[in-house]
Amino acid sequence: MAFPVHRGRRLRYNPAVRRLVRETRFVPSQLIYPLFVRPGTGVENEIPSMPDQYQLSIDRLLPRCAEALELGLGGIILFGIPDAKDPVGHDATSDDGIVQQAVREIKKRFPELLVITDLCMCEYTDHGHCGVLEDGDVNNDATLELLAAGALAQARAGADVVAPSDMMDGRIGHVRHALDEAGFLKIPILSYAAKYASSFYGPFRDAAESAPRQGDRKSYQMDPANAREAIKEVKMDIDEGADMVMVKPAMAYLDVLTEVKRCVHVPVLAYNVSGEFSMVRAAADRGWIDGTKVMMEVLGSIFRAGADGVLTYFAPDAARVLREESR
Ligand code: PBG
Repeated sequence: MAFPVHRGRRLRYNPAVRRLVRETRFVPSQLIYPLFVRPGTGVENEIPSMPDQYQLSIDRLLPRCAEALELGLGGIILFGIPDAKDPVGHDATSDDGIVQQAVREIKKRFPELLVITDLCMCEYTDHGHCGVLEDGDVNNDATLELLAAGALAQARAGADVVAPSDMMDGRIGHVRHALDEAGFLKIPILSYAAKYASSFYGPFRDAAESAPRQGDRKSYQMDPANAREAIKEVKMDIDEGADMVMVKPAMAYLDVLTEVKRCVHVPVLAYNVSGEFSMVRAAADRGWIDGTKVMMEVLGSIFRAGADGVLTYFAPDAARVLREESR
């Protein structure tokens, strides 16, 4: 018998056979595009640390929503930057809050676009923490009340999915209960269940102007060293009523993603966060890497690790590449 019997290269010699035996594929409808909305008209502030990503006023946001639909994206997730911040993040819970206004306008024009609303206080509080601050600590249970009020405001505005990203204990149960009591039985919760205290969020905090004034988020977001704890967090959130769970960040946490996918039977999403986006763009813009190829390789790795969907600033670019490839 000739040696070797198996030659792995036989299935790599041409693009057609490679395509046939490809193990991981993804489509635009698995990509969620994060967008930042702020008050005003004609506002299009490019975020310095995130090339081609903008803080947009609602009139400038709407064309992006049209594009998301046209590209067949899975949907968008909205983050708000209010004009005024205060200790309890009033804008997050008000029917006139910037995200609530945006949702109403989007849903009027594009009812078929899936609109997810990030539910957290950090973009709305003047101290930049994800809840009510008391003696330098976030008061968990007082924050739950604000989150419930925020979820209700988002639901009233017409959000399709609410996505709590605060990491307070008990928030999923609390928000689910509040939504159900108010009759929003059909609105799913996407929980940022395994969210780490990561330094990869730096550019987002520029974008959302949400860096904590003092301290950090280590008393509520998870320690990056912990993987088993992620399973506990995810299972708790599912028990409390999470319909979908998320691992965040993605690239540096692919092991966590794989393990979460193995352990639970709800859809598992991953957030390819701002720092992951900016690193790729920065290197690509210097000509050090091929940005498009690295983007597709990164997204492919997140799907290979088990994601059912990915939140990514690359969503429109990746969708365009996928469209080209499928021609
Ligand atoms: C809000 C929130 C953050 C991100 C998503 N929701 C920031 C944070 O926790 O500091 C980060 C997203 C990104 O980096 O792209 N809590």
